[in-house]
Amino acid sequence: MNAFKNARHLFRVAAVFVVGGLAFVGVRALLVPKSFGQYGHYRGNAIAEIAARPVNYAGHQACEDCHTDVLEKKKSGKHVHVNCEACHGPQAKHVDDPGSVQPVKFDTAVLCVRCHEANIAKPKGFPQVASADHSNGLACDTCHQPHSPAITAGETTGGTK
Ligand code: HEC
Ligand code: HEC
Ligand code: HEC
Ligand code: HEC
Repeated sequence: MNAFKNARHLFRVAAVFVVGGLAFVGVRALLVPKSFGQYGHYRGNAIAEIAARPVNYAGHQACEDCHTDVLEKKKSGKHVHVNCEACHGPQAKHVDDPGSVQPVKFDTAVLCVRCHEANIAKPKGFPQVASADHSNGLACDTCHQPHSPAITAGETTGGTK
């Protein structure tokens, strides 16, 4: 009997663990979403929720079907692999209804430096300029045609204007 008396504290500790375990299982059941684990270690319903979001990008194929002139110009220049929406932004709405939704004109002083501002962290071979010195405050498309930006010795293209 003595041994049982001395063991009571062990039962108390065991009880604490049992209650704690049950509390954990209960709280977990409340907090973990139902579809968790359906396909793996994530919430299964997340897939349907993401798929239901509106599509904002149309993809360059769509643009090129209509704007064949721009495609031709771009093909011959260094921006050949920079796709339309990388500069013009998501344009799915414009593609659906080009008559009434048109891309906004943007400020080339902001657009071009996003990729071309000189930065030590960029690959050496990537064309980059210190814009303040390079452009003298002029808009980049004063001299560079955005769709085919290289300038042949000494001349400017007049941009798109
Ligand atoms: C169904 C044909 C069609 C598709 C697809 C299309 N566009 Fe257009 N886009 C037009 C028409 C029509 C205009 C207005 C006429 C114009 O100024 O050329 C226009 C105008 C524009 C303008 C403004 C021109 C200006 O003068 O301000 C830009 C920029 C443009 N589109 C970019 C895009 C991009 C980027 C895509 C691909 C995501 C795209 N377009 C897809 C037909 C189309
Ligand atoms: C490197 C950035 C860049 C890329 C890539 C680009 N554009 Fe542009 N685009 C511009 C800029 C800058 C203008 C000047 C007008 C402005 O300020 O909105 C312009 C103007 C236009 C215009 C107005 C008419 C014209 O020819 O100037 C159309 C249409 C257009 N872009 C369509 C396209 C399409 C279609 C593609 C893909 C095939 C494309 N752009 C790729 C930067 C870009
Ligand atoms: C989304 C990124 C991006 C934007 C925005 C962008 N460019 Fe580019 N640009 C590139 C890439 C990529 C290349 C090709 C680099 C290569 O060939 O290694 C390039 C090449 C160039 C070159 C060619 C340099 C040479 O070696 O001949 C010039 C000039 C240039 N861009 C000017 C501009 C101007 C002006 C604008 C704004 C209208 C602009 N870029 C906007 C990504 C961009
Ligand atoms: C006054 C005319 C002028 C203006 C404005 C201008 N550029 Fe240039 N840019 C040139 C010339 C000329 C070259 C040398 C020829 C070439 O490589 O195309 C050049 C070259 C470049 C190059 C290639 C550098 C290299 O190492 O290969 C990039 C990138 C460039 N410019 C980006 C820009 C950006 C971004 C802007 C706007 C902030 C801008 N330019 C404004 C005239 C201009």
